[in-house]
Amino acid sequence: MEKPGKIAAPKGKLGILTPGMGAVSTTFMAGVELVRRGKSQPVGSVTQLGTIRLGKRTDGRTPLVKQFVPLADLKDLTFGGWDIFKDNAYQSAANAGVLNLQDLAKVKPFLSGIKPMKAVFDRDYVKLIDGPNIKKGKNKYELALKIKEDIANYKRSSRVSRLVMCWCGSTEVFVKPEDVHSTPAKFVEAMKSNHAAIAPSMLYAWAAITSGVPFANGAPNLTVDIPAIQELAQEHSVPICGKDFKTGQTLMKTILAPGFKARMLGLDGWFSTNILGNRDGEVLEDPGSFKTKEESKLSVLEYILQPKLYPMLYGKMHHKVRINYYPPRGDNKEGWDNIDIFGWLGYPMQIKVDFLCRDSILAAPIVLDLVLFLDLAQRAGMKGIQEWLSFYFKSPMTAPGLYPEHDLFIQSMKLKNTLRWMMGEDLITHLGQEYYD
Ligand SMILES: NC(=O)c1ccc[n+]([C@@H]2O[C@H](COP(=O)([O-])OP(=O)(O)OC[C@H]3O[C@@H](n4cnc5c(N)ncnc54)[C@H](O)[C@@H]3O)[C@@H](O)[C@H]2O)c1
Repeated sequence: MEKPGKIAAPKGKLGILTPGMGAVSTTFMAGVELVRRGKSQPVGSVTQLGTIRLGKRTDGRTPLVKQFVPLADLKDLTFGGWDIFKDNAYQSAANAGVLNLQDLAKVKPFLSGIKPMKAVFDRDYVKLIDGPNIKKGKNKYELALKIKEDIANYKRSSRVSRLVMCWCGSTEVFVKPEDVHSTPAKFVEAMKSNHAAIAPSMLYAWAAITSGVPFANGAPNLTVDIPAIQELAQEHSVPICGKDFKTGQTLMKTILAPGFKARMLGLDGWFSTNILGNRDGEVLEDPGSFKTKEESKLSVLEYILQPKLYPMLYGKMHHKVRINYYPPRGDNKEGWDNIDIFGWLGYPMQIKVDFLCRDSILAAPIVLDLVLFLDLAQRAGMKGIQEWLSFYFKSPMTAPGLYPEHDLFIQSMKLKNTLRWMMGEDLITHLGQEYYD
């Protein structure tokens, strides 16, 4: 792809639409409002706190990312969404229990004004929840057209100049890519005939993309990871990215595993167990939804450690992931990792990681960065899969035939080099010979 020319300025308001207004979505919305009122800090957000080095180490040029690239300002963001429950964003946030009531009280009127639109939902795809706020339609195509109407109405009524959609809905059951996903025409036919391989998240994605709205997929569902949607993204000049926000245990894995590999330490096994008690945990009790999540979590180590290249070090590794729903924990998950590594002459060692993490606290800044970067990408004329946003995902999307890059540090370098490339700055290779000439 050619380097973008001049990037259009972020004029006017940016509307952010989330299918799913649960823990992640409302923690994100509440957080943005707390930050823009000066009541809190956007910890964990690269767009808000990150800096980027430009030129040589001796040049002393390290602007903030948000001063370097023309991102939308937080004050220009507006929020909307869909959910199967009628709770407004305040009620939903209070129910999710991520933020304490003191913090929520500071933004209660703001959150109470964000009311979910009626969702497109089908229990065949998310089995363990059900709710009253659901659209009716003759077939999936008609439902998708209704989402398009919602998007157009939101744009008009909130007077935004641009929109971005980020899937924050529950994890759907595992859906395999099929022929109906291969072209836009077959996809439309499949929607009209209510084909089982068309999940609700795909209807939101189709509606967004055919409305010219960038789409990020925060869950491990197939959603935009199919040729039909990718072709539409090209056609409508829409950037897309996914899948599954990289938080918690997988974040730790992609921090630790690259270190073991860089030092040529071996790995016999990695056993990961999670206990969590939020609605996400409840949905993941269903084997179908768990399988989608499991696929997403398991692939990480294979790609980072490359057992085919290093059979002696990683060829026999056992990797297990378990998720258990345990209501007393609420959103405060516990992720235990037992890591069996080996060193010089094959001598074994163990590492135990017990991460008492707050999932949605880790996910909210990801949503913020993704929507701001997708909006930037669209203004820069970038379309289709945005691999440079792999940094934020457990299962990064790539062009067909490419393996995904999971190493957090390579992902971070790729992200920052993409920003340099967009702005016409030199890429940083870390070679550094020039300092010794
Ligand atoms: N919390 C994290 O750190 C994290 C990390 C990676 C991925 N995710 C994924 O992000 C998603 C959201 O997580 P969460 O913790 O906010 O879950 P949550 O259960 O609190 O919220 C999901 C919301 O989506 C709604 N929903 C389900 N199907 C819908 C549909 N078809 N249309 C509209 N709304 C629908 C549910 O009613 C619920 O309110 C999940 O898929 C989860 O697996 C979360």
